[in-house]
Amino acid sequence: MHASAHSYTRLLLSHQNQLMQCATEVYTSSVNAFRRVGHLSSEVLAMPYIPLMMLRQQKGLLLTAALSLAAKLRGIPAYIVIPKNAPKCKVDNVIRYGGQVIWSEVTMKSREDTASKVLQETGAALIHPYNDKRIISGQGTISVELLEQAPQIDTIIAPISGGGLISGVALAAKSLNPKIRVLAAEPRGANDAAQSKAAGRIITLPETNTIADGLRASLGELTWPVVRDLVDDIIVVDDADIMEAMRLCYEILKVAVEPSGAIGLAAVRSESFRNNPAWRDCNHIGIILSGGNVDLGVLWDSYRK
Ligand SMILES: Cc1ncc(COP(=O)(O)O)c(C=O)c1O
Repeated sequence: MHASAHSYTRLLLSHQNQLMQCATEVYTSSVNAFRRVGHLSSEVLAMPYIPLMMLRQQKGLLLTAALSLAAKLRGIPAYIVIPKNAPKCKVDNVIRYGGQVIWSEVTMKSREDTASKVLQETGAALIHPYNDKRIISGQGTISVELLEQAPQIDTIIAPISGGGLISGVALAAKSLNPKIRVLAAEPRGANDAAQSKAAGRIITLPETNTIADGLRASLGELTWPVVRDLVDDIIVVDDADIMEAMRLCYEILKVAVEPSGAIGLAAVRSESFRNNPAWRDCNHIGIILSGGNVDLGVLWDSYRK
């Protein structure tokens, strides 16, 4: 499962003056989610009678759909706890890949209580969507693949929500190339990670408000130290810029990306990145476009506004 499943597109966008001030090569990595959770196979999926359960914390369903499929291929059930406000297309994908949806209320407490109940009733093995070493190390394969294919990359930008993706990306990238910069992109309406970095401790927000529905979770105790120590900066972007980046992904890259997935491109295009002297010599930027679950109805509505 390598390059064929991991669709990798190298696009030179530096001629697009409006895109970037600095000459920047944009690499897109359409993440092979199945491979990301494939890391679980040796430990968890080898236990055929233990079903899997994932607590979905506003999590992009890349992982949950992939987990559903991984479990299905092993002939074991996967219970996916999903809050009632999850986008329909994401829920549909879980069902499509054989996962059993367990609804919870939107609050973190309800999600955790629901998960505990499922664990008790089924004896399932809990797989946390980001605060789990297996998930984090699976995410690290993105950096390995990206740097294998484009070793000249000097900066990687990835979305941040609970921090599993960026933690894996940062740990793997910096162990391969300690000089590489790793930046996180976060929506302004859910900027708890940026606030946490500034405060030096985990900050959780009472509420979030962003089109990037996959990026509303808070850091966990495993991801926070990695974000604190290995993520060089968190670039906060507005929803309008996320939508514009998404449009460019469709129009120029021909890649179907959801808002949460397009945020890295929005960050690279942002004034705060381009005008920051610290990033002036970022010449080869790897942007991780992390998910493509787009509810087209919602998307069209948001464009009409
Ligand atoms: C599409 C997408 N990209 C990136 C992320 C960030 O993942 P993490 O929670 O590991 O930071 C998410 C989170 O769910 C997501 O949905």
